[in-house]
Amino acid sequence: MKLLVLTGAGISAESGIPTFRGAQGLWKSFKPEELATPEAFRKNPALVWEWYLWRRSVIAKAQPNEGHLKLVELEKRFGDNFLLITQNVDGLHQKAGSKRLVELHGNIWKVRCLHCRAEYYDYTTEAKDLPLRCMYCGGLIRPGVVWFGESLPEKALELAYKWAYECELFVSIGTSGVVYPAAELPFIAKRHGAKVIEINPEETPISSVADVIIREPASSGINRLTEML
Ligand code: APR
Repeated sequence: MKLLVLTGAGISAESGIPTFRGAQGLWKSFKPEELATPEAFRKNPALVWEWYLWRRSVIAKAQPNEGHLKLVELEKRFGDNFLLITQNVDGLHQKAGSKRLVELHGNIWKVRCLHCRAEYYDYTTEAKDLPLRCMYCGGLIRPGVVWFGESLPEKALELAYKWAYECELFVSIGTSGVVYPAAELPFIAKRHGAKVIEINPEETPISSVADVIIREPASSGINRLTEML
């Protein structure tokens, strides 16, 4: 049985990383347009880097939680019949040991040079002079994440759609299901005959197509899911 798992910020909440739209959500203090867009970066790259370095410093202190680790166990159990697609850029799934992983929105520890196009991992969390510069050419670098209004990495999206069409079981964990195209994946899976399970303490648009709803936080919810499989 092909198992496709989609995760959102909710799975990292128990690692102490604020979600985007929750009560203490990241977007509460900023408007996305102000920071997570190409225009915002063009207008004020130093301000955007200030926000990302703050987010990196929060993430650097975070450890994968039981939910991340349980998904690694599921990956080992299902092997090639398992794929994890995450909207999260915090890198905690990788840190937990997930290998069959697609990062749909990029990774906060990746950077891309706007001058020489170099792409590499950079682990700066504090810097005196912002914006950060390319380690190869000294040009302006940007966070390797997908911003509002930008298209997603093509290969990642193709793989996500392919698995959404083919999977027999689709599990959505800790996402509000409001940001496309990721939010479309459970509906594609459902249309193609998959069973849909949602693990989320709150109702979301995905709840309407879920065959099973586990209204619990990710870690306890994934325990329940594992018992069911
Ligand atoms: N366990 C599981 N789910 C949780 C938990 C928890 N402990 N705590 C909160 N949640 C749920 C919330 O109920 C909410 O539905 O996690 C979801 C988080 O939703 P968002 O903050 O909207 O995050 P996400 O769905 O990942 O956002 C998608 O939007 O801002 C962009 O690119 C950003 O990847 C992000 C995308």
